[in-house]
Amino acid sequence: MNDLYDVINRRRDTRREFTGQPIPPASLQRVLAAAHCAPSVGMSQPWDFVLVRSPQTLESFRSHVAGEREVFAASLDGERGETFDTIKVEGIVESGLGIVVGYDPSRGGPDVLGRHAIADTGLYSVVCAIQNLWLASTAEGLGVGWVSFYREEFLRDLVGFPAHVRPVAWLCVGPVSALPDVPDLERFGWRHRSPLAEVLHEERYAPRV
Ligand SMILES: Cc1cc2nc3c(=O)[nH]c(=O)nc-3n(C[C@H](O)[C@H](O)[C@H](O)COP(=O)(O)O)c2cc1C
Repeated sequence: MNDLYDVINRRRDTRREFTGQPIPPASLQRVLAAAHCAPSVGMSQPWDFVLVRSPQTLESFRSHVAGEREVFAASLDGERGETFDTIKVEGIVESGLGIVVGYDPSRGGPDVLGRHAIADTGLYSVVCAIQNLWLASTAEGLGVGWVSFYREEFLRDLVGFPAHVRPVAWLCVGPVSALPDVPDLERFGWRHRSPLAEVLHEERYAPRV
């Protein structure tokens, strides 16, 4: 029990700390198995994981992400722009492994139990798998960095997903020198964690004042 809370608290989005060493195969297998045993709506297991190690593909994605970083940077002004300049948003090449996670809504047949009223439950299931992967990686001493600075069509083409499979995440995964204690966005002054009390409500939602 304490081990679980310890892993939850140590989990960190990783960008700078990748060593570039390969992941021991048994360790990677456990991480992927943890992702694959996540809860899913109607037990549809609507995820796919593409392991990307080719230096050319990593570089191609890194270059695309650099372009999207510029798009976002151009939307910022003044202090926000200067703060963003100091923040690294990916460790695609340094990690040596990208795990691209896809969502396949056709998985589980036409009658997915529990999805008839809320289509997004399929996507929620994929995110449960990602969180399992992230926590298992932390337990294995690996870092994970979620990259979302990309256009979905670009990533779909890059890894060959068919048109109906939606790319949900590029995860940089690999051994790290250490996991940072403090999230980068806090360390570099972008945003701070809010206290639990700010998002907790009793009986009915109460707007914040
Ligand atoms: C859906 C999602 C997308 C994210 N995209 C990025 C990203 O593109 N680049 C990045 O550096 N971090 C990304 N992050 C990581 C967040 O910045 C990070 O989780 C947050 O700052 C809190 O830090 P922590 O995960 O270390 O606790 C993403 C996280 C999530 C859940």
